[in-house]
Amino acid sequence: MIQGNSSSRDGFSTKFGVIAAAAGSAIGLGNIWRFPYVLGQNGGGAFLLIYLVFIAAIGIPVMMSEFTIGRSAQLNPVGAFKKIAPGKKWHLIGSLGVVTAFIILAFYTVVAGWTLEYMLQSVRWLLFPESSGVAGLTGDASREFFQEHYESFTNGIWRPVIWFLVMLFFTGFIVVSGVKRGIEKYAKILMPVLLILLLVLVFRSVTLEGAKEGLVFLFKPDFSQIKDAPVKVILEALGQAFFSLSIGMGTLITYGSYIQKKENLANTAVSVAAADTFIAVIAGLAIFPAVFAFGINPGEGPELVYITLPVIFQNMAGGLIWALMFFLLLCFAAITSTISVLEVIVAYLTEQLKLTRKRAVFLSAVSVAVLGLICTVSSDVFAVFNASPDILLPFGGFFIVVFIGWFFSKNSLKKELSSNGARKIGYYPVFLFLVRFVAPLAIVFLFAIGVYNKIINVFPSMG
Ligand code: TRP
Repeated sequence: MIQGNSSSRDGFSTKFGVIAAAAGSAIGLGNIWRFPYVLGQNGGGAFLLIYLVFIAAIGIPVMMSEFTIGRSAQLNPVGAFKKIAPGKKWHLIGSLGVVTAFIILAFYTVVAGWTLEYMLQSVRWLLFPESSGVAGLTGDASREFFQEHYESFTNGIWRPVIWFLVMLFFTGFIVVSGVKRGIEKYAKILMPVLLILLLVLVFRSVTLEGAKEGLVFLFKPDFSQIKDAPVKVILEALGQAFFSLSIGMGTLITYGSYIQKKENLANTAVSVAAADTFIAVIAGLAIFPAVFAFGINPGEGPELVYITLPVIFQNMAGGLIWALMFFLLLCFAAITSTISVLEVIVAYLTEQLKLTRKRAVFLSAVSVAVLGLICTVSSDVFAVFNASPDILLPFGGFFIVVFIGWFFSKNSLKKELSSNGARKIGYYPVFLFLVRFVAPLAIVFLFAIGVYNKIINVFPSMG
C-alpha cells in the first residue's frame, strides 16, 4: 500500500487508502460507544441535530485545515507549525495535541478493554445462562446481569487492567512494527463487515416490541429536552463532533503529511466525515430502539452500549456468533483509532526529539499505561479524562482554523486544495468564510457562554 512520495516519507498510495486510514481513525468507539451514550444523556434528537450542524459547519473545515497543514509541511503537528510559521508560537498547538493524545489514549484504551470483557461475558451468558445466577433469557434478567456485571467489573481492579494492557500492547505492537499499513488492507474489508453487522443489529432492534419510542427519541428533535442545560448539551455536541472526526489534536495533520500531492483534500474530508457520521447514526439506530424496548435508561452513561448490546444479541437467533463477531470487529475499529492517536506522539518523538521508533513507542506506551491504570482505578479520573477532549479538541481546532484562515499563505492554501492547479476549487470562498469566521467565532462564542454559565453556577447572584 505504501510508497515513498515526493520526499522520502512514507505515504498512502491510493485515494482509497487515504480515506480508509482516515476513516479508520475516525470510526471507532467514538461512534459506537461515546456517541449513543452522550446523545442519550443530552436529550436525543435535539442533540443529533446540533451535532450534524457542527460536523458540517465546523468539523469538515477543521479536517480540511489539518490535512492542508500536514500535507504542505510533510511533518508531525509540532514540526509542521515550526516549519510553516518559524519563530512563532503556533507550534504550541502541536504540543497541546501531543498532550491531548496521552489523555485520549489512556481512557480510550481502557474502554477498548471493556469490549473484550463484554465479548467474553456475552459468550458466557449465552452459553451458560445459569452461571450468571439470573433465571431465564428475558430482557429484564440480562439487563440486570450486564448492569450488575458492569459495576462489579469496573469496581474490580484486575480484569479492567488486564484488558487495558492487552489493548495497549496491540496498539504499540502495530505502531512499532509498521504493520499499520497492513491494517489499511484489513480495514478495507473489516469496516464494511462492521457496517453490515450494525445493520443486522438495527434490523433486530427496530423490530423489537416498543422500539418506536427509541426512534422518536433519536430522530425527533425535542428542544424541551435540553432546556435545563442547553449550554452543556451544545458544548458536548461540539466536543463529540471533534472527538468522532479525530480532529483538533493533530491526528489528521499527521495523516495529512502522508497524503500524496495529487489527492483531493476537500473530497477526502467530506467522504471521511460522511462515513463517520453515518456509522454514528446507525449505531444510534441499533441502540435506542432496544434501550426503550428493554426499559434501559437512555441517560445511563458510559456503560449504555455495553449493557444494551448483549441484550440485543440475546434476542437474536445465533446470538453467540453475532456477539463474538461484533465485539471483535469493534475491537478492531478501536485499534485503527488508537494507532492513529499513538502515531501523533510517536511522530513527534521520532521527528522532533530524534528518538528511534522503538524507543518512542516504548516510552509513550509506558506513560499511557500509567495514566490508563489510574483511569481503571479511579472512576473520577476516568470521567475527567473522558470529558477533557470536549474542551481540548475544540480549543485546538480553533487555532487550527484561525491559522489556516488568517495566517497561512493563501497561495499555498489554493495550491494544496487544487493539487497545484490541477483541480477546480469552486467551494474556496465558502471554505475561507467558514475557517475565517464561522468556525472560530462559533467556538469562541460557545466557550464564552460555557464559562459564563460556570460563573453563574458558582455565583448565582450574578445571573
Ligand atoms: N475518532 C476516534 C473515534 O471516534 C477516536 C480518535 C482517534 C480521536 N484519533 C483521535 C479522537 C484524535 C480525537 C482526536 O473512536
